[in-house]
Amino acid sequence: MPKNFKIAGLGSYLPEKILTNADLEKMVDTNDKWITERTGIKERRIAKEGQPSSDLAVEAAKIALKNASLDPKEIDLILVATITSDMLCPSTACVVQDKLGATNAAALDISAACSGFVYGLVVCHSLICQGQYKKVLLIAAETLSKITDWKDRSTCVLLGDGAGAAVLIPSNSDKEGLLASTLGAMGSAGNLICLPGGGSLNPATHKTVDERLHYLKMQGNELFKLAVKSLVEAAKTVMQKAKVKPEDINLFIPHQANMRIINASATRLGVPMEKVFINIDKYGNTSAATIPIALDEAFRAGRIKKGDLILLDAFGGGLTWGACLLRW
Ligand code: ACO
Repeated sequence: MPKNFKIAGLGSYLPEKILTNADLEKMVDTNDKWITERTGIKERRIAKEGQPSSDLAVEAAKIALKNASLDPKEIDLILVATITSDMLCPSTACVVQDKLGATNAAALDISAACSGFVYGLVVCHSLICQGQYKKVLLIAAETLSKITDWKDRSTCVLLGDGAGAAVLIPSNSDKEGLLASTLGAMGSAGNLICLPGGGSLNPATHKTVDERLHYLKMQGNELFKLAVKSLVEAAKTVMQKAKVKPEDINLFIPHQANMRIINASATRLGVPMEKVFINIDKYGNTSAATIPIALDEAFRAGRIKKGDLILLDAFGGGLTWGACLLRW
């Protein structure tokens, strides 16, 4: 049986259209100063009309496959982490399988909101180490702009669209791959981020549309406190499991929800800001896609080298959280 997995290729894709804070000033009662100071976000990317999450996923996946020197037909499993699936059925993973021509792959979606990519890594690790799958495509893709209430200034300034992908293959080295992981959930606080309409609880009707139930609702203040607590606890858990100290971490990639959450988490963990990867200013919160986009950008920027210790740390709707410690 393989000892671990290794990341054979990474890719990411961001839609071309940029929505700046100045653009938002014309749409809702907000301003660049408030958004910058309270969130750290300057701009975000927005998918085109008729451009669903699967399109973003496919673009990111093509780059990851190319970097892994693999043909789509060699992939035996596709996992897509998303809360903005193209449709409720079929899964976005099945749509991606078809668009890529990855005809030999099983396909399923993961719904863990912003923690989806970290959840996916842990699932892939188990499946690969059990010898069940050998060439796995893990994608996180979101078009949050399609479920954003563009009249709600407390959420619309935060969210953006994007996708990131990783090709995972077995490794027989005990010096690379996933060193430790932790996943958690608190369903009792699920109401803090939810999209109430369109599911089996509130099927779509004129009333659900009139009541704007098909948009993401968020209680930002409550989430803020839980986000910092969960991110810090999850990171400490994986560091303890792997017996490493904060100073051993080469790069900390936290979920990009709010610059103040990132600062508070890094400070409490004792990781200096020069070791923290930040791109929230360019993309805002792209939910599950934030971590693989950041991972890909960090790798391309030369901030990840062989042997480095990388800490991935996520928090989001569900509520869910999770952290992974990777040896590159
Ligand atoms: N522009 C200007 N003013 C605003 C805006 C805005 N865009 N949004 C809110 N305000 C106002 C509020 O109305 C309030 O005004 P008041 O004092 O007159 O009532 C004031 O600013 C302060 O509002 P707060 O909500 O207390 O602001 P806070 O500092 O908490 O920042 C924010 C809000 C940015 C949402 C923050 O709470 C946050 O980032 N929370 C965490 C979000 C998160 O982590 N989400 C999880 C992941 S999302 C997912 O899973 C898809």
